[in-house]
Amino acid sequence: MAGGASGSAVYGLSVDQPAGEFVLKVASRPGLRERARREVTFYRELAAQVPVLVPEFLVGGEVEGSAYLLLTAAGVPTDAKRWSELRWTELATELGRLHREQVLAVTIDRGATAREPASAEKLAAGERAWIELGCERLLAPLWASFEALGAAIRQLPACLCHGDFHLGNLLTDPADRFVWIDWQEVHIGHGPGDLALLWQRAGVDGVNPPREAMLTAYAAARGIPDDALLHRAAVASELTLVMLEWPTFFPYVPEPGRARIRNRLEHLVAVWYR
Ligand SMILES: Nc1ncnc2c1ncn2[C@@H]1O[C@H](COP(=O)(O)OP(=O)(O)OP(=O)(O)O)[C@@H](O)[C@H]1O
Ligand SMILES: [Mg+2]
Repeated sequence: MAGGASGSAVYGLSVDQPAGEFVLKVASRPGLRERARREVTFYRELAAQVPVLVPEFLVGGEVEGSAYLLLTAAGVPTDAKRWSELRWTELATELGRLHREQVLAVTIDRGATAREPASAEKLAAGERAWIELGCERLLAPLWASFEALGAAIRQLPACLCHGDFHLGNLLTDPADRFVWIDWQEVHIGHGPGDLALLWQRAGVDGVNPPREAMLTAYAAARGIPDDALLHRAAVASELTLVMLEWPTFFPYVPEPGRARIRNRLEHLVAVWYR
């Protein structure tokens, strides 16, 4: 099937007896198994507790070093190019509901964990990459006070985050409802990272989500104020994502995608120091 960029093999299965369409996801390489295990744990322990629609879990486990997961086929890929502002804010509302403190309270006891903070090596690699891309002067003050970005994000309460929330991990079912898939990166964080990834992955493809309207809908659904703290946390999350993650993906991003990320970076730096 499409996707599988994480390295898992994903197969669509059509079965006669009992009749149905299924999806089988198999991770064989050792480095992938931890993520695959996290996804099986999500479907076993957390899926029933989250307020978003997810595929039905049939079976999951490990055989001979491979992790497997069998789900019902739950929808088709979304095409955000034609979305109205309302559609985007509906998605932001669902995300806000997922990030509510009540969801964290029930999932924290069932195996959800926080992510490791970015290592010193990762920061150094990001800094080197952006210097090579000609952004040394633009980013020098931010690398020097990188901790301030994390501090701004941590101003928001903790919550259960999807962790790989881009449009490729969102399906729509026949009733046009969103179906949330690919839970390998689910973790406890602070929330705006999910928005940052969604926005930037869409932005690279030339789709510009209505960020302000989405933040308003998100805050209302999450039950937090739509205030300067939230906006600053969102900017800090976007900056962190561009600075640490995008250089790794640039070899796979054709122009004008890379230029769009650079433009976004310049805009974010200006907003951060405003
Ligand atoms: N339950 C499902 N129903 C219908 N299609 C699905 C389902 N699960 C996965 N798919 C399809 O298979 C693709 C890959 O699945 P998934 O995102 O779970 O794997 P992945 O290897 O983690 O992908 P990537 O790393 O590319 O995000 C999805 O983008 C989607 O098109
Ligand atoms: Mg995926």
